Amino acid sequence: MSNTVSTFMKQKQEHDKITMVTCYDYSMARLMDDAGMNILLVGDSLGQVMLGLPDTLSVTMEDMLHHTLAVSRGAGNAFVLGDMPFMSYQTSVYDAVVNAGRFMKEGRANGVKLEGGASVCPQIEAIVKASIPVCAHIGLTPQSVNAFGGYKVQGKSLAKAQQMLDDARAVEAAGASLVVLECVPARLAAVISEKISIPTIGIGAGAGCDGQVLVYQDMLAMFSDYTPKFVKHFADVGSIMKQAFADYAAEVKSGAFPAEEHTFAISDEIVAELK
Ligand code: KIV
Repeated sequence: MSNTVSTFMKQKQEHDKITMVTCYDYSMARLMDDAGMNILLVGDSLGQVMLGLPDTLSVTMEDMLHHTLAVSRGAGNAFVLGDMPFMSYQTSVYDAVVNAGRFMKEGRANGVKLEGGASVCPQIEAIVKASIPVCAHIGLTPQSVNAFGGYKVQGKSLAKAQQMLDDARAVEAAGASLVVLECVPARLAAVISEKISIPTIGIGAGAGCDGQVLVYQDMLAMFSDYTPKFVKHFADVGSIMKQAFADYAAEVKSGAFPAEEHTFAISDEIVAELK
């Protein structure tokens, strides 16, 4: 692992943007690591994009650890960030430390992410005291979708914008090494990024953040249940995959696949001896 929390701090100071993408398995981790990604986030978004759930609320520690370990095996230089699922840290500071520790011991993660601002600072402080790097996550925090009444842009009024800045300062003071800003007006995210010393990672928060994160199925057009406004399709991998599956099915049916070069040989004598 050549990416560490110190690297990210240096990147912020040198205006070298931090790259983060979600990742849930070994093969993808290898590809993303080879592409030079700084951080692989094993997001609880796996609830939707990997498990077909309507939101992140039913994702368990076991789901997360299973995928985190697979990603860790494929990550050479990238920093692996495990996303703490709903109710794995909200219940108590003790639960937060125990579950963060499980990400490190069982998932071989390099740090954990959790959602919330000032309200989860006791958890952040305790996890950091246990020598586990923490990425906070403020703005639209999907585990609070029921409290928010939907997936909406956050921080549009003066009071809410000030509260978000206060939350960013609070998680920084609690010892967080990074903070994700999700669905935040671009100018507010830029102000927060200027006013705190830890790196901000934006998703739907504009170019003023110190880094960016996207869900890989969104950026590769592999997930069509819904597409948020902030998503850019960097390649239409979804269509390429669909076409490849259709071509495979057609060749299997026609007998074109497998061809001679995909088969293993046996001598004529042995075949002749078979009774
Ligand atoms: O779970 C996730 O993928 C996330 C990102 C969207 C930041 O939390």
